[in-house]
Amino acid sequence: METDNEKIDIKDIVPDKSKRILTGIRPTGHLHIGHYFGAARSWCELQDKFDTFIEVADVQALTDNFNNPQKVKDNTLQIVMDLLALGIDPNKATFFLQSMVPEIAELTIFYSNLVTIARLQRNPTVKTEIAQKKELFGESVTYGFLGYPVSQAADITAFDATYVPVGEDQLPLIEQCREIVRKFNSIYGDTLREPMAVLSNAPRIKGLDGNEKMGKSLGNALYLSDDLDIIRQKVMNAKTDPERIKKDDPGHPDICMVNYYHNLFSPEEECKAVCEECKAGARGCVQCKKQLIENINLKLEPIRERRHYYEEHPEEVQKILMDGTERARKIAKETMEKVKEAMMLNY
Ligand code: TRP
Repeated sequence: METDNEKIDIKDIVPDKSKRILTGIRPTGHLHIGHYFGAARSWCELQDKFDTFIEVADVQALTDNFNNPQKVKDNTLQIVMDLLALGIDPNKATFFLQSMVPEIAELTIFYSNLVTIARLQRNPTVKTEIAQKKELFGESVTYGFLGYPVSQAADITAFDATYVPVGEDQLPLIEQCREIVRKFNSIYGDTLREPMAVLSNAPRIKGLDGNEKMGKSLGNALYLSDDLDIIRQKVMNAKTDPERIKKDDPGHPDICMVNYYHNLFSPEEECKAVCEECKAGARGCVQCKKQLIENINLKLEPIRERRHYYEEHPEEVQKILMDGTERARKIAKETMEKVKEAMMLNY
């Protein structure tokens, strides 16, 4: 079985349609442009090169939303709509719903014998998340949440995935999955594949307020579904150089969020001009923001339009998800057969 490096840069991977990619997303909210630059853009690139599977991880979403099933349900089709709007092509990539693949839950139980509680408690991703969720968990975290890396290992291995495109923050989960696989193979014989993380090196996109993180709760995110009016309002309130009071004061684009967003959305030539004129005090912030609003809107308009189409045709989205789930389940069943055989449970 493949035991290469733990991670690989997206630039370095060789296209191979016979290899499988598995990634997942928790349906807990609408996608914002941070998701686009961070994850979805690389998934769009990878779907042309590999047999790509995208899991809507509703069971995992419940590990920290068990008290809010409506939220998870409401976001399930919405997240598929977002991804379709961003360019994931259902003819190239397979969307599936975690809760409809019971083999994942079954594998999770088998794998749970192969990982200690102490190891899960040491997982840096889980540790950080538990610290952030004191309000939900109080002093003692649930068995389900502590164990979600085990269930994520089941997600990945059920599909015999070679590559898992994730952000840096997910690396400890891939590492944990690889450990489980090694343990499984050493006890029950070579059965499972050790996956590799694929890093896109996409930077985390800062919020319009300059915060390192973009998020709903922080109120600093631009959503794919935002219309021109909302974009206008958000950009007009973006953080700029606080020392720039008058229009002809020389500006400092490196600390200005409008400039930061120009670099994401505007053509290179425009970005250069914006920077030069700002430093020379030759361009006002309002003019600069208006230009940015236009450029953001240009990029988001086709995405919004595609999204709108799917909003009007939810039955199509439902069908994409159900057809994909059926395809995914066949593969998970094959894995389950192999696993049961290895574990002497093949009655
Ligand atoms: N934990 C991932 C996240 O929060 C989502 C996820 C679920 C996932 N299952 C996965 C990612 C399998 C990669 C592979 O973003």
